Amino acid sequence: MTHAVFVFDAYGTLFDVHAAVRSHADAIGPDGARLSEIWRAKQLEYSWVRSLMNQYQDFWQLTEQALDHAFACVPSADPSHRNDLLEAYRELDCYPEVPSVLRALKESGAQTAILSNGSPAMLDSAVRSAKIDDLLDAVLSVDELRTYKTSNPVYEMATTHFRVFPQAISFQSSNRWDVAGATGFGFRTVWVNRTGQQDEYLDLSPAAVLPSLDGLPALG
Ligand code: LAC
Repeated sequence: MTHAVFVFDAYGTLFDVHAAVRSHADAIGPDGARLSEIWRAKQLEYSWVRSLMNQYQDFWQLTEQALDHAFACVPSADPSHRNDLLEAYRELDCYPEVPSVLRALKESGAQTAILSNGSPAMLDSAVRSAKIDDLLDAVLSVDELRTYKTSNPVYEMATTHFRVFPQAISFQSSNRWDVAGATGFGFRTVWVNRTGQQDEYLDLSPAAVLPSLDGLPALG
């Protein structure tokens, strides 16, 4: 094992952000995938804009605002399902390989953590409903800094927590922009390209690209 600490992004990497709309697919109707895409894209946009403005609102508030905007953009989706979708977002499915990968890393002697934009309450609920709380040494939320990725102080939370240099941390994210931020900070990065996205941020490349987390323990 060449890396002592494995730090994971949460949303999109461990938890499937599209599972909430999918779990209410019949009620939402034919434009569910579009609703879900807009919801996610706006949630992220709001985090970047608010970080630049230094006007923090927590990630749950941004998630609610983004869903309201998504409903406004997709008239075929009935906004009376707002609370059902938000409830489902609190208990998103984790990707199927996540528990076994975390267990393999722990058994090899590594430490594991989440480093996420999510508010502490959101992360607590997601981790417990996915039953991975026992497989994580730490769940680190940006909330105590009141800013979002890709601010360097966010990535620094992990080095401070584990008392290691950035190079000792392997950071996994399915969000290419997050991989760029973490690479710039100095982590060894792994891009979990679950959906075959085109590469970008070419000067801030990951050390490895995987289609899922399955190959991670073998990378070390
Ligand atoms: C997170 C978002 C970026 O979990 O997915 O930090």
